[in-house]
Parts: sequence; C-alpha cells; structure tokens
Amino acid sequence: MAKKLHIKTYGCQMNVYDSDRMADVLAPLGYSNSDDASDADMVIINTCHIREKAAEKVFSELGRLRLWKEAEAEQGRQVKIAVAGCVAQAEGEEISRRAPWVDVVVGPQAYHRLPELVANIDPAARRAVIDTDFPVEDKFDFLPEEHTPRGPAAFLSVQEGCNKFCTFCVVPYTRGAEFSRPASSVLDEAKRLIAGGSVELNLLGQNVNAWAAEGTDGKEWNFARLLYELADLDGLKRLRYTTSHPRDMNADLIRAHADIPALMPYLHLPVQSGSNRVLEAMNRDHSRDDYFRIIDDLRAARSDMAISGDFIVGFPGETDQDFADTLNLIARVNYASAYSFKYSPRPGTPASMRDDQVDEDVKSERLAGLQQLVSAQQLAFNKAKIGQEMDVLIERPANRAHQKAGRSPWMQAVHFPATSGEIGDIVKLTIVDAHQNSLSAEAIATQ
Ligand code: 5AD
Ligand code: SF4
Repeated sequence: MAKKLHIKTYGCQMNVYDSDRMADVLAPLGYSNSDDASDADMVIINTCHIREKAAEKVFSELGRLRLWKEAEAEQGRQVKIAVAGCVAQAEGEEISRRAPWVDVVVGPQAYHRLPELVANIDPAARRAVIDTDFPVEDKFDFLPEEHTPRGPAAFLSVQEGCNKFCTFCVVPYTRGAEFSRPASSVLDEAKRLIAGGSVELNLLGQNVNAWAAEGTDGKEWNFARLLYELADLDGLKRLRYTTSHPRDMNADLIRAHADIPALMPYLHLPVQSGSNRVLEAMNRDHSRDDYFRIIDDLRAARSDMAISGDFIVGFPGETDQDFADTLNLIARVNYASAYSFKYSPRPGTPASMRDDQVDEDVKSERLAGLQQLVSAQQLAFNKAKIGQEMDVLIERPANRAHQKAGRSPWMQAVHFPATSGEIGDIVKLTIVDAHQNSLSAEAIATQ
C-alpha cells in the first residue's frame, strides 16, 4: 500500500543529499515523499550537531512529533518517527531515553539499512531501534541505483568524514574518518543523474577536495583528476564542489579551474579566522598568508573567481587583535558570500575544554561587526552584475507568480519572468537589479 514519507532536513548539503537517498531506500517499501508532515505515515528528521542551537532543535521538534503521533494513534493510525543524521550519531541512546516515542535512530553511515530497522520496530517496546554503527560495508554499495529525478542541479556525495580534527569541530566524531568513494561509483551515479535530467552536479564532501581514491584505470586519482573525468561526461554542463579545506587546495586543483569551463567560478573555501594565533589553536594547519596565496592563485587561474567562506567568532582566547585580523583578511579577500557563527562549545572537542571562553556579548558584538562587513561585500558583488549578460540555469518556478528562479555561475539566485525558457535550460539573461541575496533579470528578448 502506498505510504507517505516526510523528511525534515537540518544542517548542511550533505544532509540534503542523505535525505534524498533515505527516500530512495524506503521507496521499495512503498513510501513516497510528501511535503506535508501531518498526513505522513513516517517522519524522519535528519539532524545537525555542528552547533548547540542546531542540536537543541531536535528535542523541541521531537516534542511536537510526540503530540502528532499520539493524536494519530487516537484516530487509529500508527505513525513512525525516525531520527537520522549527526545528532542521531552523537546522542542515539539519549534520544531513545528522552524521547521513547521515537521508533528508529540511524546514523549517517547506516541509513542504507533503514528497511531492516523499520521492520524491527516493536511498538510495544517504547524504545528506538538504534543503528549508529560505522559499518565495514560501504553504504554506497547498498543504496538503490534507481532514484527519483533530482532536478537540473543535483548533489552528488563523493567524500565523507574528516581526519583534520579542528579543535572546535564535532564532524570527525559524528561522521568518522575520511572516506572517498571510488571513482567508478561516483562516475556511475553522475551518469544516472545526467540521464535523469540533471545538468549541474555539485560534488559534496566534508573535505571534498581531500578526495583520493582508485580511478577507473586502477591507479590512484586525486580530486582534480576526478573533476576532469566528470567534466567529460556527455550532457554535463556545470560542475561545483563543496566544502573544501585550504590544506588540500593543491596546484592540480587550481589548474583545473583554469582548464575546465564547466567548473563554475565560485568556491566555498572556509578559513574560520584571519589570525595566525587562532588558526594555530584551531589546528587548521595553515597561516593567513597561505590562504591569501591560494586565493591569488585561484584568481590568476580564473579571473572571475568568487570566494565564499565560513567564519567563527569568539573562539576561546580570541582577542580584539585576533578579531581585527579576521576583519582585515575579509577586507583583503573580498567575499561574494560568507557564513559566520559564534563559537559554540561542542561536547568532546578540545576547544570546549579551554578555560578562556569568550563572553557571549563579546561574541555577539563581533558577529554583528563581521556580518556587516561581509553583507556589504556581498551586496557590492551582486550590484556589480547589474547590466551584465550571464548564463542562468533555470531550476524552478519562483515563489512569486509569473517568475522563474535559477542560478548564476557564481551561485547567485536569479529571478526573472516565467516566459524565458524551460526548467533545466541554461539561458543568457541580462541582470537588471541586484539585492542582498539575489539578482533580477529581464526576459529574453524575442526576435
Ligand atoms: N562553533 C561554531 N561554528 C562551528 N562550525 C563548526 N563547528 C563550530 C562550532 N563548534 C562552523 C565552521 C564550519 C561550519 C560548517 O560550521 O565555520 O566551517
Ligand atoms: Fe570540522 Fe575542520 Fe573537519 Fe571541517 S576540516 S569538518 S571544520 S574538523
């Protein structure tokens, strides 16, 4: 019988990808995706553990789901609740104890086993079926090849986990050690996505540019090589990757940006701080000058390269001077966009145990200052596009009637009249207005 599955996704793009794959895994059991949680037969929340705020949301969401489950039970409907993602990985037992109405807890490396886990649910047990293993088998070998079309721009996971152990970060603990998917597995999925109508692939990994694995020739390939091979696939028009670490931005990869036209001129390259002292304490293993050199080389390889970043303010021991160094780095790099966060102490990480934590109000003040600077840079970057013609990949109807929405090569959202082109087309549009987070374009002139 047809059943409805609703997945609510928090956190990074890797979770967005994983949520799609969970839907693929459950499709053979009769589940189809539904945007509506209220009439679902199963709800999965795919969670994020990166900052405390994100993790806290899980328990408030679970409180709401409990009421829903009880109300449905009164109507004679047995609905299922599953928790996936990094909070599931880090706090599996705790979730089951604090929220015994949860049926399944599944970690990011075990979700290919969802059918088995769902089959093992015992409604009388009042405890979840938990699977937070890092299995020896590769989940990608067990995920179904069949998947629902992902739209013109699709995510493709190529690498997971992290060995770098930045002292603030939980990822090495929740996602485990670095693992790269073999090239043949990546290329096969890429071909299937293209056959399903995707023209842009965005390669995902916690350390995507650390990707290194066996190539189709049996030799070890690096990430640049994988990009060249993917760019050669028929029907692929755009290629992106995220998130990269400065340490793995090698000369081959920078050259790929000069060589491969499909590789879009936008790179998310987090630096976290502009202070050498803080970078060292974070265990980033590079200096601010190393970062500047990489940016300069990227821009020499491709002059229209736009950079985006992540920043943490208020890392333990961060002084006014350290923060001034961060602002100065931002001024020098000139970002097209940036994500910034107050440092959030995470359980088990070295930085959380330091006794020189920064006051909350100092963090708030620094965050506001930093965000003001990057917002101004982003707006200037967007405004500089006014009057330009650019290629836009049409991705979806826009929220406003009679409009469509797409993306520029630089990842900017572009809105334009719906008469221009079809979803999946790349069209040339003239930018007529620019806003903080998007561009407006006019219709294509008809001859
Ligand atoms: N506190 C605040 N921000 C963090 N990030 C990772 N860990 C923390 C933390 N403990 C940020 C980093 C990273 C992004 C995904 O989240 O900037 O690049
Ligand atoms: Fe976390 Fe650092 Fe690994 Fe990124 S590189 S996932 S910030 S430990």
